[in-house]
Amino acid sequence: MEHAIGVIDSGVGGLTVAKEIMRQMPNEIIYYVGDTARCPYGPRPEEEVRRFTLQMAGFLVERQIKMLVIACNTATAVVLKELRETLDIPVVGVIAPGARAALKVTENRKIGILGTIGTIKSQAYVHELKMINQQIEVEQLACPKFVPLVESFEYQSAVAKKVVAETLIPIKGKGLDTIVLGCTHYPLLGPLIQQEMGPKVKVISSGEETAQEVSTILDFNGWLNPSLAVPKHRFFTTGSQSIFRRIASDWLQIDDLHIEFVNLRNHEYLLGN
Ligand code: DGL
Repeated sequence: MEHAIGVIDSGVGGLTVAKEIMRQMPNEIIYYVGDTARCPYGPRPEEEVRRFTLQMAGFLVERQIKMLVIACNTATAVVLKELRETLDIPVVGVIAPGARAALKVTENRKIGILGTIGTIKSQAYVHELKMINQQIEVEQLACPKFVPLVESFEYQSAVAKKVVAETLIPIKGKGLDTIVLGCTHYPLLGPLIQQEMGPKVKVISSGEETAQEVSTILDFNGWLNPSLAVPKHRFFTTGSQSIFRRIASDWLQIDDLHIEFVNLRNHEYLLGN
């Protein structure tokens, strides 16, 4: 099926998942929406996160996507269940794949979760991990300073290094052997986080496992794109096209990205009540 895979996030973070989808399924077309004008979602009330996410989903469903990836942990925690019940296409979140990826590699069963305030408060990772293995010990840490660093293209700066070092202090020395980057923006800070935690700690992002889930669903349904033409991805942002382009080109290593502006306020039909 030549229809696109929809990928949504509060901003550029979901590109970390999109990149894995492109790597594992290079024939697939991606329609990406980043709500950069209203990023971060992490500190926002659930009702707002729900409304904004349903607007993004609505916008992409109007473009006949064949499946939807909520490439945002904060939004996954709030609306994955609702979107699965409402839409007649498969909907994939990033929390279960992130948890599974961590469970695959932990040896001492002590896992740390870094995430936004919303994701940590939701306890979604704790539930997901414990549902699969009761014996897992989980330490959680909200890192609200990370997303603004990424969105402002400062993720390789000296300021970023300092912020990462200061933020991670509470989670160091706890004997964790695995850390989950429970926010899709954090892989852009991955090298700094790995450096700070040391080589013995495995730093996991959900992108790879999420892309695998997407691939399995498409394959199972016979929906993989049979066309060998170079896929025409589309990127939509509610904010600055130039900042989005700079970050997306850097992260995806694609030069001629066409970034389109979108106003999501006219795409509210999924909100219903
Ligand atoms: N990238 C998102 C996540 O995975 C959201 C970051 C934010 O908007 O606070 O949680």
